[in-house]
Amino acid sequence: MATKGQAKSGRSSRDLRILVVHGPNLNLLGKREPEIYGTQTLAEIDADLAVLAKDLGVEVESIQSNHEGELIDRIQEAIGQADGILINPGGFTHSSIALRDALVATDLPVVEIHLSNVYARESFRQLSYVSPIAIGVISGLGAQGYQFGLEALVKRLNG
Ligand code: DQA
Repeated sequence: MATKGQAKSGRSSRDLRILVVHGPNLNLLGKREPEIYGTQTLAEIDADLAVLAKDLGVEVESIQSNHEGELIDRIQEAIGQADGILINPGGFTHSSIALRDALVATDLPVVEIHLSNVYARESFRQLSYVSPIAIGVISGLGAQGYQFGLEALVKRLNG
């Protein structure tokens, strides 16, 4: 049983490791449909997360890929290495059972993030294969959603 200040892995909050996964097309943030996704670039979002991670005393590694298989490989590598996953699966949210299976296989707590409010958009965005296996979902709060998600994940891991 994890005690307060400790994650399931037995690590203290000081050395909790969070994998941040950005899915397809998120490398274009800043230029891509800014009226929907905002003007912050992915590098800026990751830099803000790194500052917050330092404040929270946790380690964060951020990755982005446009390729489903690569995302799955990186998620699998989190097994035994990370304590939690913060993920914006992008378009794969609505299509990838394999991505969801990889997340489940890690047995790690997952927080799902979307910059836009997917429930206020096209109906095909209202199906998420990830949401049912996530501990929580943040959608529509822009880049701040990543910050809220990281805080929530660390709180959960610290019990
Ligand atoms: C998104 C929403 C998805 O529907 C879309 O395919 C994205 C970005 C978001 O952050 O709002 O690529 O995940």
